[in-house]
Amino acid sequence: MADAANENAKDKDKDKAKADRAPPKLTMMPTEDVGPPLVEIDGLWTKFGKTVVHQDLNLEIYSGEILSIVGGSGTGKTVLLRQMLGLERPSRGTVKVFGEDISAADADQLRRMRNHWGMLFQQGALYSALTVFDNIAQPMRELRALPEDVIYDAVLLKMNMVGLGIEHAFKMPADLSGGMIKRASLARALALEPQLLFLDEPTAGLDPDLSDAFVALIQSLHRELGLTVVMVTHDLDTLFALSTRIAVLAEKHVIAIGPTRDVLAVDHPFIKQFFLGARGQRALEVLDEHDVELKQYEEEQEQQEQAHQQQQQERQEQQEQSAHPASSEAPEN
Ligand SMILES: Nc1ncnc2c1ncn2[C@@H]1O[C@H](COP(=O)(O)OP(=O)(O)OP(=O)(O)O)[C@@H](O)[C@H]1O
Ligand SMILES: [Mg+2]
Repeated sequence: MADAANENAKDKDKDKAKADRAPPKLTMMPTEDVGPPLVEIDGLWTKFGKTVVHQDLNLEIYSGEILSIVGGSGTGKTVLLRQMLGLERPSRGTVKVFGEDISAADADQLRRMRNHWGMLFQQGALYSALTVFDNIAQPMRELRALPEDVIYDAVLLKMNMVGLGIEHAFKMPADLSGGMIKRASLARALALEPQLLFLDEPTAGLDPDLSDAFVALIQSLHRELGLTVVMVTHDLDTLFALSTRIAVLAEKHVIAIGPTRDVLAVDHPFIKQFFLGARGQRALEVLDEHDVELKQYEEEQEQQEQAHQQQQQERQEQQEQSAHPASSEAPEN
């Protein structure tokens, strides 16, 4: 009894601590019922010696979204991704991925979870001593469950998926261009058909054409594979073209989170400086174009859906007619 009362008091303290916490300025959520978060970060602190990088940071990422994390250099974006991958432990707080506390996960659990996510590191991070083929094959070979001929086909499929010609399969990473390294790294991140994809500065260092091509690639993968994407980027074009929500990291925590336009409207010096300079104007035009494209796409989908329903209804009516040919005639008395 006393224990239960104790637990109750603890829960109340926890709730109060949550309520006392300065909330992010925006917590806009996708409107549909999105289910439980795939990633749930609660009360996270990160310290390196005396340096506090994150202080009471909270963040939830939901299935199907492309959540972008932005923040100044050194604000701890890469560290945050590494914590979501279980590569680093927070000093305090919890990081849950697929509902499991990643800090408490043992090696087996981590290995299992790793099969459900892919990561594109900021520096590309291909193994320099392995060919492109072997780099992409490596996560599949680690499973030790797939025969080599299945791996062979899967690697070629992934290369095709990211638009990397098979003539590059047996090149070494040093012989690839920057764009090709990104594509090969993405193919490796997709090797195990992950549910969750982490991208750290995916378009950094690419020229504008390659960068646009990479954005289009992520868009189509997101649409076709239903991936949830967590991305860190400084590049406003990439950010506006891809994000369903943006989380802004400043003052050691998430100061704003929501759809792009809502975040842009938040009155904060970092947000003003980051988004609303000259480059922000160009990127906003991209956002407008994107809105028009999205509207067209949604209208097309709706028309297709209506046509489909009408066809089905007509087919059903025809079937009923042929099953009961006399039923449409008035009964004779
Ligand atoms: N292992 C570590 N030991 C000590 N300090 C670290 C360690 N890892 C990261 N840091 C520090 O933590 C801070 C955040 O680093 P992080 O790489 O996450 O920044 P970032 O937001 O990704 O920056 P950028 O935009 O430049 O990539 C930096 O000050 C960095 O020096
Ligand atoms: Mg970084």
